[in-house]
This record gives sequence, structure tokens and C-alpha cells, in this order.
Amino acid sequence: MVLKAVNIIRSIVKGVVSEGDLTVDATAGNGHDTLFFASLVGEKGVVYAFDIQQRALDITRERLRAHRLEERVKLIHDGHESMDRYITGGVKAFVFNLGYLPGGDHGKTTQSGTTLTAVKKSLDLLLPGGISAIAVYRGHGEGQGEDAVLREYLSSLDPHLYISVLAAASNQMNNPPLVWLVQKKQEACPTNNY
Ligand SMILES: C[S@@+](CC[C@H](N)C(=O)[O-])C[C@H]1O[C@@H](n2cnc3c(N)ncnc32)[C@H](O)[C@@H]1O
Repeated sequence: MVLKAVNIIRSIVKGVVSEGDLTVDATAGNGHDTLFFASLVGEKGVVYAFDIQQRALDITRERLRAHRLEERVKLIHDGHESMDRYITGGVKAFVFNLGYLPGGDHGKTTQSGTTLTAVKKSLDLLLPGGISAIAVYRGHGEGQGEDAVLREYLSSLDPHLYISVLAAASNQMNNPPLVWLVQKKQEACPTNNY
């Protein structure tokens, strides 16, 4: 396995998601993460996939169809900041692959304000033991803003309630992506009890 953001997220998420789970791809894009979740949750599981661009949802639907997995996925044409209109809780894992649609309009990118709102909501909607995984791409203007707001918020989460892990390549050039992995604890634990 190559140690890149998407692989780090998938290897961790695989360890917590089981058949029958509810998972959320907060940024459907080209559908790779949605497909990954759809194959993990099995026939009884459900995946919600959000995107503000119909084009992204169309690409994602086609990708799912090619693998005959579209039945277990709800594609939602709305911003992830509104996720609580569609989901009331019980989520085992979220993936946020931030930024813009590869090969698409770079102006239609995730934004720091709505990203922060959505990440906060994801933590509320997580099951105990569930994980919210976020890949942040700092190489563009909005990505730097997202990095700043997420760093401040995720570093100061209540240590009794969440474990917040930051994975960052420390020797690579050109602002490599950052990965945040936030797990809701099974029960409120003392700070030093991992
Ligand atoms: C880097 S791409 C996601 C890649 C995708 N997960 C994949 O596997 O191909 C980021 C996507 O986020 C979408 N996006 C931007 N703002 C959003 C928002 N507020 N809510 C949901 N999606 C958003 C963009 O339209 C774009 O398709």
C-alpha cells in the first residue's frame, strides 16, 4: 500500500465498518469513495453520498451501476452542511475528500465555513466507535482556509469524548494532503485512556 491520503483513510475506515452499517460520503465527486463504502456495507447497509454538483452525482451513479451497487446508495444533491436534514444519527463512518471535482470546475470547491459546519454535524451523528475521516488539500486557496479552521476545531475537541488524529507526510514537497481521523469514544473516558 502506498501511504497516500485516500489509502490511509480507507485502511482505517475498513477497520470500523461492517456489513449493515450506515456510512456517509460527504463529497461524492467521481464516486470512488462512495463505491468503496457501498462495497463495505453489504446488501443491508446504506450509504448517503452528498454533492453540490449534479454532474458528480451522475458520474457516481454510473460508477455504482457498473458494479451493481446503486441500490444501497442514496445520492443527495445538496451540500454536506445540510446532512442533518437527511440523517438523524447512527452513522459508523464519514469520509470527506475535500476540494474540487478532479477534471471539473475548480471554482466549485468545498469552502471552509460549510466544511466546518458539516464536520461538526458529522461528529454529532456518529455512533460511539465510529470515525469521521477528512482529507484536506492545502495546495489551493480555499484548502488553506479549511486547514486553518479544521486544525483549530479538531485539535480542541473534548478528549473525553473524541480521539482526534492528524496524519501528515512530513518530508514531502508541495503541501501534501493532511488526513484527520476523529473517533467518537465508546464512553466518556479519562484523557489518557485510549
Ligand atoms: C475532491 S472531490 C471528491 C472526490 C470523491 N470523494 C471521489 O471519490 O471521487 C470534492 C467534491 O466535493 C464537492 N463539494 C463541494 N462543496 C460541497 C458541499 N458543500 N457539499 C457536498 N459536496 C461538495 C465538489 O462538487 C466535488 O465533487
